[in-house]
Amino acid sequence: MKKTLFALFVAFWASVATIAALYALSNGSLVGAPDQESLPRFTLAEVAEHDSLESCWKVIEGKVYDFTDYIPKHPTPPRIMEVWCGRESTEAMRTKGIGRDHSPAAWAMMRPYLIGELVEE
Ligand code: HEM
Repeated sequence: MKKTLFALFVAFWASVATIAALYALSNGSLVGAPDQESLPRFTLAEVAEHDSLESCWKVIEGKVYDFTDYIPKHPTPPRIMEVWCGRESTEAMRTKGIGRDHSPAAWAMMRPYLIGELVEE
């Protein structure tokens, strides 16, 4: 009986150690989320080329987003979003131009439009 308990004890901690090792090897993620460091890199000059409704990229908190397909869905006339195309827009996202931050739901909606991260010129 004692032996069985001891074997179970060892098996339990071996499992814990295996899971911990796998977790460490998977870059701190259990679900294999994409490695942030493998995102394409863009300079502000490259982002600035996408400054229209035909192609609208924005930089928000160091990440580059292509919002071209989102603009028709945004709950304002397109012009409100358009002026920020091709630009660093963190402040615009934080204030909507009216001193009020977007809702957490709005921030979460940005994820599918992420295309890269900003690098120095
Ligand atoms: C960066 C430039 C942006 C500006 C200047 C801007 C501005 C605004 C304004 C004026 C409103 C309406 C006023 C209000 O609801 O309080 C609004 C609402 C909203 N915007 Fe934006 N927006 C921007 C970017 C975005 C982005 C990138 C998303 C999501 C992908 C987004 C999602 C929303 C949503 C869901 C609302 C409804 C209210 C809320 O959830 O906060 N906006 N935005």
